[in-house]
Amino acid sequence: MVVYLIGFMGTGKSVVGLKLSRKLNIPLLDMDDEIVRRDGRPIPEIFAQDGEDAFRDMEEALLREIADSDKDLIVSCGGGIVLREENRRILKENPYTVQLLAMPQTIAKRAGGDPNRPLLSDTVSVDEIRSRMEKRMPLYRECASLNILTDSYTSNETAKRIIDQLNLEESRRKETGSKA
Ligand code: S3P
Repeated sequence: MVVYLIGFMGTGKSVVGLKLSRKLNIPLLDMDDEIVRRDGRPIPEIFAQDGEDAFRDMEEALLREIADSDKDLIVSCGGGIVLREENRRILKENPYTVQLLAMPQTIAKRAGGDPNRPLLSDTVSVDEIRSRMEKRMPLYRECASLNILTDSYTSNETAKRIIDQLNLEESRRKETGSKA
């Protein structure tokens, strides 16, 4: 089973991914962290030195590798994963692709000014976040089989709602039972 968490920056993909990983006992792969680990440079440096396209190439190659592997994983994706059509094809094919959503105000509070997010500087306004989110929203929706609001929930609660709504414990039991 691979659970992909997608959604805009600051919707809680990494932290919810961690909770899902613990609750389901499936390893977590955070795509941004993995890219940084392999490349050896932080994301803003990759963007600044090689450009956004180079980062997107690494992201696409990593997603393909994950999809081709046979491993059970919780995958926390970077916010821009849906920009490439090939990535959307992979995400859409998977039955457990979940979009996390948050209000622009929540995003600004959680992620605004984070030096590790080159596309979300501290000068970006709530209106600007809203307009960028709206542009990407159809792409996230196209890929996800579940869309889940995070604003008024803890990461634990969000993880639990995902497990319940997708019936993940039951599917996991069936999978591990049939592998044994
Ligand atoms: C990006 C989101 C980031 C990271 C990169 C680009 C985007 O990931 O992949 O800075 O285009 O939305 P998070 O969503 O984990 O912040």
